[in-house]
Amino acid sequence: MPNRSDTAILARPAATRQAVPAGPAAALLAWYDRHRRRLPWRALPGESADPYRVWLSEIMLQQTTVKAVGPYFEKFLKLWPDVEALAASPVEEVMKAWAGLGYYSRARNLHACAKTVAIQHAGRFPCDVAALRALPGIGDYTAAAIAAIAFDQPAAVVDGNVERVITRLDAMAAELPGAKPAIRARVAELLDPGRAGDFAQAMMDLGATICTPKRPACTLCPWTAACAARAAGTQEAYPRKAPKAAGRLRRGAAFVVVRADRRLLVGTRPPKGLLGGMTEIPGSAWSADFDLTAADEAAPVALAYRRLPGVVSHVFTHFPLALTVFRAEAPADLAAPAGLRWIGFEEIEGEAFPTVMRKVIAHAL
Ligand code: ADE
Repeated sequence: MPNRSDTAILARPAATRQAVPAGPAAALLAWYDRHRRRLPWRALPGESADPYRVWLSEIMLQQTTVKAVGPYFEKFLKLWPDVEALAASPVEEVMKAWAGLGYYSRARNLHACAKTVAIQHAGRFPCDVAALRALPGIGDYTAAAIAAIAFDQPAAVVDGNVERVITRLDAMAAELPGAKPAIRARVAELLDPGRAGDFAQAMMDLGATICTPKRPACTLCPWTAACAARAAGTQEAYPRKAPKAAGRLRRGAAFVVVRADRRLLVGTRPPKGLLGGMTEIPGSAWSADFDLTAADEAAPVALAYRRLPGVVSHVFTHFPLALTVFRAEAPADLAAPAGLRWIGFEEIEGEAFPTVMRKVIAHAL
């Protein structure tokens, strides 16, 4: 049965009626048109997006905040204004410019991707999700984000923010990560194929500024009336998450070798995998069945090591780690073993050490 407001809308002239947002996508896009964030990589209303800027920003924004990315994005654009310039640069320069952003395998992949686009795609990013997904460093989320934002392809872009928005909108009982396919399907159903890029960015902005994890600003939300969690007053209960299976404790040894001229022996982790490409204190593999009595087999160079009291504890996403730390002094003329290098104490701060390695250094120095 039509209520009074329905009747009022139907009674309007057609031109006015079109301006009234109909459906969730239109309501969201109308909100976005008024409240969109100005971000350095974002095209202004009416401008078309530059795929290079979109790609660069999406890689930088993986695991990193908008605030931290801003200055790096500007620096990269100044150094390398297009993908061909970036591809032509030595990878070492790219790594140097990336220093401080973390997750260094991203920088290596960034350069590999630039080269692939320059050589195999004549300097133009492909526009479809599958071809983007095949490029180095581009996973499902990033492929969808670039396809939508740079090329207006109707791809369902789902990051943590979007998962929160959608699970609240529908008060989804299913837990993450199992709920992901249902969330993606719901986004695909909601999105406006005529404004796919704006829709994706609007969802990100809604999640970042209104539909926040704690105390969401529901009174300002364009979807407040449609939101099932809001109706029930249970917003903060979503998204529901399956309890993480706590990984088994892994243990290992780290060897802090200090040369008489105040230099520290370090290595670089392999480019792929946990802490890929980052600087490390040499040590053993980390395992649940680590044998401390055989730790000296993992020492980088034969010296008189002292075992330091206590352990360094760190919790990774998938497992907790306890490292026993050994320390030795080395003469000033000791050469670094193959694959390792000496850094001065004054260089420690600027090195790409992950937190766990900084803990090891703090424990030993
Ligand atoms: N996070 C990831 N991609 C983003 C984008 N394009 N805008 C804002 N935040 C983001």
